[in-house]
Amino acid sequence: MKVIRTIDEMRAHSAGERGAGRRIAFVPTMGALHDGHISLMREGKGRAETLIASIYVNPAQFGPGEDLERYPRSLEEDLAKCEGVGADAVFVPDDGMIYPDGFTTGVRVGGLTERLCGASRPGHFDGVTTVVAKLFNIVRPDIAVFGEKDYQQLVVIRRMVADLDMPVEIVGAPTVREADGLAMSSRNDYLSPDQREAATSLYRSLNVAQKTIDAGETDPATIMGRVRETIEKGGIMKIDYAELVSPDTLEGLSEFRRPSLIALAAYAGETRLIDNRFFG
Ligand code: PAJ
Repeated sequence: MKVIRTIDEMRAHSAGERGAGRRIAFVPTMGALHDGHISLMREGKGRAETLIASIYVNPAQFGPGEDLERYPRSLEEDLAKCEGVGADAVFVPDDGMIYPDGFTTGVRVGGLTERLCGASRPGHFDGVTTVVAKLFNIVRPDIAVFGEKDYQQLVVIRRMVADLDMPVEIVGAPTVREADGLAMSSRNDYLSPDQREAATSLYRSLNVAQKTIDAGETDPATIMGRVRETIEKGGIMKIDYAELVSPDTLEGLSEFRRPSLIALAAYAGETRLIDNRFFG
């Protein structure tokens, strides 16, 4: 497995793979890799002949007061995990390379980025789309795999790729969970034992929603009321948003229908956690 630290070397490696007729699957990450990230890499490996991952904690997608400085970094372990899953190359750029002096360009997806996480984290998705567009230009993958855990991110990236005619196929992959249902996240490392316990309420609340919907309930206020109740019961979690939305536009629904998406964000102390469930 190659560890690639410069843009020129990354381009040369990609060009070589393409020249040899191998299709490239790409999995961008911010490191602190867990089984969720690894499952995306497996998915990529199954769909193309060569797998490239990237590890870069992108400062542009963190707002002031967010966790950029304390975001977990574990490069050696991460590289071992990439090697373990059979990645062919890992791109590990630094800030000076991605945002050199004089950098002023941004990629912005409208509308979709103003809702849900975009409403509480202004500018976050601009940072995501800008870095992902850059990474796509550097790596030039045929396929890129993103997790449904960050459902809004997946929808925003699909929109960017469609709107800007980027020649890459976007693949969504299912959320990988801990045994008790908590969606795996690099940010779970921040949780105290009490918070870790309370955090399972997100998953439980989605199960409550599922049951309510399976019983025939279609009123979003009733469905989401039960979701909120489940999360708030422990008294630790503070809800940022809990919404029933269209999975395409992310706009709120006045009545449950299929397809739809329940999207949640809540704080355990300072730690912001998200989860969602798709009803297809
Ligand atoms: P990061 O949070 O490291 O996530 C990298 C990829 O892993 C994303 O596509 C995310 O949706 C996916 N992922 C995270 N947790 C998952 C889980 N439990 N199950 C399945 N997939 C999961 O998302 C980012 O980084 C950044 O915004 C990035 C796209 C790299 C741009 O900087």
